Amino acid sequence: MTIALPKGRIAEDVLAIFKKIFNEDFEFENRKLILKKAGFTFLNVRNWDVATYVQKQAADIGVVGYDVITELNSDVLELMDLGLGECRVSVAGIKGDESYKSKTRIKVATKLQNIAKKYFSKKGIPIEIIKLNGSIELSPLVGLSDVIVDIVQTGGTLKENGMEEKEVIMHSSARVIANKNSFSTNKKEILDLIAKIGQVHGA
Ligand code: PRP
Repeated sequence: MTIALPKGRIAEDVLAIFKKIFNEDFEFENRKLILKKAGFTFLNVRNWDVATYVQKQAADIGVVGYDVITELNSDVLELMDLGLGECRVSVAGIKGDESYKSKTRIKVATKLQNIAKKYFSKKGIPIEIIKLNGSIELSPLVGLSDVIVDIVQTGGTLKENGMEEKEVIMHSSARVIANKNSFSTNKKEILDLIAKIGQVHGA
């Protein structure tokens, strides 16, 4: 079975879960992108690419944030909430500044364009999306946008930059996802693994 993991903290946490299940060390060596162990092949991919690997069946299952699968509208099965990497997707802006609410068209900086569009369109509020790839919090500070739609985890980045969460759009955490074909072919194997993860991790 091939498992796509998002680089960084979540991958480490998931490999620690496998260590508990199989009583063996699971670790990507140096800069290796593939780890083969105990009948599994783990792929070390970027967070945003996990859903693509799984949807296209380059991996049978994967671990990815609910925010990412929502933004990409991925055609995959969602099997389990691992409760790791908990965060919110929120509208945020400069502390105490509510002026965006009276604008006829709000300038929204984000990398989560679809989530932002859907949220404001449901409220009937016209927006202009400014697509950024990172350090989104900077944009209202220099007048590039009125607000941002971004991930808030500890709230530290907002606080350090004189900003605040204005509206919570959704809650997110890491989910185990599966390719639909892989799941129908290897249902028992995948469900057994999910059950084992549940036993040692208990999310
Ligand atoms: C994410 C997110 C926020 C920050 C939130 O950025 O975009 O900037 O984490 O975390 P906090 O609430 O704990 O401060 P990331 O570190 O992934 O980098 P990025 O700016 O490149 O998106």
